[in-house]
Amino acid sequence: MRPIKTCIFPVAGLGSRFLPATKSIPKEMMVVVDKPLIQYAVEEAKAAGIERFIFVTSQGKAAIEDHFDSCPTLEAALRARGKEQELSLIENIKLSPGQAIYIRQQAPLGLGHAVLCAQELVNEDAFAVILADDLVLAEKPCLQQMVKVYKPNEGNMVGVMDVPYEHTNRYGILKVSQDRDKKVLAEDVVEKPAVDKAPSQIAVIGRYILNKKIFQHLRTQQPGAGGEIQLTDAIQKMISSDGLCGFRFQGQRFDCGTKEGWLEANMAFAYADPELQGHLKAIFKRYSF
Ligand code: G1P
Repeated sequence: MRPIKTCIFPVAGLGSRFLPATKSIPKEMMVVVDKPLIQYAVEEAKAAGIERFIFVTSQGKAAIEDHFDSCPTLEAALRARGKEQELSLIENIKLSPGQAIYIRQQAPLGLGHAVLCAQELVNEDAFAVILADDLVLAEKPCLQQMVKVYKPNEGNMVGVMDVPYEHTNRYGILKVSQDRDKKVLAEDVVEKPAVDKAPSQIAVIGRYILNKKIFQHLRTQQPGAGGEIQLTDAIQKMISSDGLCGFRFQGQRFDCGTKEGWLEANMAFAYADPELQGHLKAIFKRYSF
């Protein structure tokens, strides 16, 4: 199998759940502790061996391009002031020439449509997709864990976690044929089922390793849940021919597209940082949580 070298980052979404913060700032540029969400996503992809980073953007997302680009004025100013540590922080973010590709999704037609926009840019048989607002705190980065256990003959792979039944209507939900602890083989997947129709509590989170054949299905995919072209529906169509494997990753996932999830992520990431943990504990005491 050829290694997975390409990752698609759908970043065209409006971020309406986080207004007014996201009126002029892309939701993927929301900061958790000291880094924007999209930087966590790119670092996770790099750790998994990704070398081509395809960002599917829309209007108002230029801040994402700037973030991974050079910033000569800032770099010169930091250099002149001898701020080497800060300089290396911003230099490490840069993607090498040709590694970052930005394309536009011209209409908000859904996640499946966003992925389809990148079809001409994927060369290998399999590629990854990361949804940056699903932030995972883990010993080994989530996508790296998945790449390690991915087997093409098991079909597409999705990161999964168990969620409470009452939340199943927020996710793609698997119907399971074999539950082998970390790996789950699925016979069906449903996008945002009604709670009383959910086939299980096993939910897809925003990590995918997909075979390129998915594009054939996305091209003809009709709108599904919420009137959008859903990635889940195209994955579902491939189950009978190729299969679908869920992977229960190690780590804690935060839905940073919501205020509660973003707040908790800030707490958890600060707590995991030895320099900030003490401050966080002191803050908790002050507010007598
Ligand atoms: C998307 C996917 C859904 C998945 C979820 C994970 O939904 O369509 O299958 O469970 O991400 O966060 P969204 O949250 O974009 O509505």
